[in-house]
Amino acid sequence: MKDPRIEREIARRRTFAIISHPDAGKTTLTEKLLLYSGVIQSAGLVKNRKGRLAKSDWMGMEQARGISITSSAMQFPYKGQMINVLDTPGHQDFSEDTYRTLTAADSAIMVLDAGKGVEAQTRKLFEVCRLRGIPILTFINKLDMPGRDPLELMAELEEALGIQACAFNWPIGSGREFRGVVDRREQELLLFTKTAAAGAQKSQIERFPIDDPRFEERLGAQTAEKVRDELELLEVAGNAFEEKAFLEGRITPTFFGSALTNFGLEPFFDTFVELAPSPYPRPVDLAEGGEGELDPNSPFSAFVFKIQANMDRRHRDCVAFMRICSGRFEPDMTVRHHRLGKEVRLTRPHSVVATERNTLEEAFAGDVVGVISRDLYHIGDTLSLEGGFDHKPLPFFQPELFARIAPVATSLRKRFDKGMRNLVAEGAVQVVWPESGPDQTLIGAVGKLQFEVLQYRLDDEYGVKTDLHYLPYECSAWLEDDGEGFQAPTTSLLAKDKRGRRVVLFQSIWDKRTAERMNPDHRLLDIA
Ligand code: G4P
Repeated sequence: MKDPRIEREIARRRTFAIISHPDAGKTTLTEKLLLYSGVIQSAGLVKNRKGRLAKSDWMGMEQARGISITSSAMQFPYKGQMINVLDTPGHQDFSEDTYRTLTAADSAIMVLDAGKGVEAQTRKLFEVCRLRGIPILTFINKLDMPGRDPLELMAELEEALGIQACAFNWPIGSGREFRGVVDRREQELLLFTKTAAAGAQKSQIERFPIDDPRFEERLGAQTAEKVRDELELLEVAGNAFEEKAFLEGRITPTFFGSALTNFGLEPFFDTFVELAPSPYPRPVDLAEGGEGELDPNSPFSAFVFKIQANMDRRHRDCVAFMRICSGRFEPDMTVRHHRLGKEVRLTRPHSVVATERNTLEEAFAGDVVGVISRDLYHIGDTLSLEGGFDHKPLPFFQPELFARIAPVATSLRKRFDKGMRNLVAEGAVQVVWPESGPDQTLIGAVGKLQFEVLQYRLDDEYGVKTDLHYLPYECSAWLEDDGEGFQAPTTSLLAKDKRGRRVVLFQSIWDKRTAERMNPDHRLLDIA
């Protein structure tokens, strides 16, 4: 029997990740989302030197404001909906977890810097979203600075990412002349007024229809005519919005604004919660064979997408973060652990992304729960009340760093092997074995942090100090087929991963491109 209250709770969830290149404005946008949700009254309080949000400040805020934050997600209400922003660390914290987190999102906000357009990290994160076909809204940020032409930026989205851009608003001026936007759906002009405290407070908006005489009055005849021409051009030549194409990740509603000065933010957030889907059915592998779909209103199920070791020696446990895909979670519930084929109790839920009351009483499909565990969970594990299926295995992402690792003393070999087996199974790093020397184990990662965590945990949990020796490979790819006849550049290395799939390690992106050209009959995959 379906419970209408649970259905209501699930329907109001919006679980998403913000994808961007460092410095595009992800942190600022997140903070402004808190401002507009009423969680904080003034922005700028939670920043530290580099404009990044300090975890400790967040934690303090958590108590003070009644929002709940883990190192994995942040939850708070926004105009009746319940927002779950998944954390996608960039900068020095970039790791495979950043990619994996995207598998827990129902949608994404892509933030671009209007002066820079599509940058490298955005492109990588976008590819992961595309693979899952999740809906993406685009926010083109920093319109208060001289930037690139809006039409050119929209064209770049299509050319660089292969996604159609549909302008939901249109900017009036840029840099110091950025005055406001036209809301194309409502056919209204939104004029912004700068607040004294430079973006710390919500911005004031004056709003009226574009056929109102004030349009010309406020903008001046010349600007008004230019904007009308651009709007007409968009009407004729622009992409029309289609909900189905959006939900399948083929078209991205695009917004222009400035996260710093708050220009264009509220209309963007409002449209985001309106368009972004609540948790929807997920494909699963059925126990009896074949594929099926799991409705979010089914009894509880979740999958583990991130395992975080506690770096504090007094608390050596790990936290397994799981995304609830269906039903309702309550602390201490007993569920089936599919891989282990046994029942486990989800005890001591850790800093769970909880309700407005900030205590973990329950959580619903769309939410993220962290449970403390030791050796119990691997990335991709399914937990459920009723069983009968598995959530889809999580993909592997192309490592861009490779190293050889060995214990400092041969007497530690056994412990080292055990630690590596466990940590690799858990998803801490990837391993590959060169075809030319299969007794050598190489480790691969997406970010340096993964190697640092691995070495720390081998020492801390298994008592093994290790030497790490970086190898000169900068990217890699899986061969889609068995690689028969594949011609590898001489500087590259052929290897196998733990699933027996063939991987090629390249010393540069140019080598990879050469390999692609040399082998038109073989497909190279970045995600497998
Ligand atoms: P990130 O999380 O994507 O890495 O970016 P973050 O929000 O930290 O923003 C990076 C820098 O860009 C910050 O400046 C921030 O203030 C600025 N910024 C963000 N949005 C806008 C915008 O709409 N307009 C303009 N002009 N700047 C913006 P910073 O100097 O690195 O930090 P801070 O000292 O200003 O905090």
